[in-house]
Amino acid sequence: MKDGAELYHCINAQQFNRGFLEEISDLADKIRQIANTKAGNEYLASTLNHKRAMLYFVQPSTRTFLSFYSACQILGIKCAEVRDPKTSSEVKGESEEDTVRTFSSYFDLIIMRHPRANFAEKIAAMLDNTDRPVPVINAGSGKDQHPTQALLDVYTLRRSFKHRGGIDGKRIAFVGDLLRGRTVRSLATLLTNYEGVKQYFVAPPEFQIGQDILDYLDKHGASYEVTGDFEAVLPEVDAIYMTRLQDEWDAQDHTSAKIDIEHYSLRERHLQVLKADAVILHPLPRRQEIDVAIDADPRAGYWRQVRNGMWVRVALIAMIFRRQRNILEYYLNNNL
Ligand code: NCD
Repeated sequence: MKDGAELYHCINAQQFNRGFLEEISDLADKIRQIANTKAGNEYLASTLNHKRAMLYFVQPSTRTFLSFYSACQILGIKCAEVRDPKTSSEVKGESEEDTVRTFSSYFDLIIMRHPRANFAEKIAAMLDNTDRPVPVINAGSGKDQHPTQALLDVYTLRRSFKHRGGIDGKRIAFVGDLLRGRTVRSLATLLTNYEGVKQYFVAPPEFQIGQDILDYLDKHGASYEVTGDFEAVLPEVDAIYMTRLQDEWDAQDHTSAKIDIEHYSLRERHLQVLKADAVILHPLPRRQEIDVAIDADPRAGYWRQVRNGMWVRVALIAMIFRRQRNILEYYLNNNL
C-alpha cells in the first residue's frame, strides 16, 4: 500500500508507506488546530454525523478504547460498544464471526481489539465478501500488531523531532518485553519507512524481539542492534520506548516472574546520561518500569503520546471515510 486515497481497513503496520505517514500526521496537526475553536469543533462534528461505529473490545483497554470513542465523538460518529462477550449472543454459542457480521449490519465502522493475532484481518476479509462490507480498524490483535498505536507513536516522534530533521537518522531504543509487546512490533515495522534510523532492541533473552520482525527489518535494509545492555544503549539514543512485561501471556511456568525487570527500568539517575533532547515514550499502561518522578522531566513524552493518540485516530477515521480534502479546505478557508 498505500496512501490515504486507498485506505479502507487498518489491519497491520506493513500496509502503510511513508506518504501515508506524512499525510496522516499533517492531517492530525490540522485537525487539532481546527478543534481549537467552538466553530471548528462544530464543523468537525458535522463531517461524519451520519455514521455509526461499533467498538468491539474483548480485551482490556483504557486509552485505545477511550481515544477511539473520543475520536468518533469529535467527528460526530455515534458509538456503541461490546467490551464483554458475556453480554453478547456469543454465550448462546454464536461464533465470533457471526457476531461481527451482525455488527456490520448496523454500523458503518468496526473498531476491534481481540486476543487472536489474525482475527481482525480475517474479519476484514470475511466482511469484504458480504453485501454490507464495512471498514475494520485493528485496535490491538493478540501479541501481534497494534497499528494505530504505531501511527500515534510515529506522530509523536515526528512532533518531537520537528526541529531536528524529523525521524530520519534517529536512534530509537525499545526496552522491555519485546516478544509479546505488539506496540513495539508495529512501530519497529513502521520505522523502516524512514531513512537511516537505527533501532535498538533491549530485552532479556526470554523476551527479545521476534525473528519475524528482524527479518522484516533486514528485508527493508533497516539498521538495528539486539542487546541486553540497557545502560550502554541509554546515552546513544534520541528516543527510548519503554514497555511493561506482558505477563497476561505467561504460560504456566510464569516466565515473567523469573525476570528482574529492574535491569530494564528507567530510573531518575538515568536521566543524567540520556541526551538532553531525547524523548521518552511508553504506550502505557506502565508499572514500575518508569519512575513516576520522571513524568516531570521535559523529555517524558508518554502523556503527550496519550493525547496525540486521539488526534491521530480522528485523522485515521476521517481518511477512511475520505474526508481529508474537506477538512483541509476548512483549514485553508479559515486561515488556520
Ligand atoms: C498497549 C497494548 O494494549 O498493547 N497499550 C495500549 O494500547 N496503549 C500496551 C500494553 O498493554 O502494555
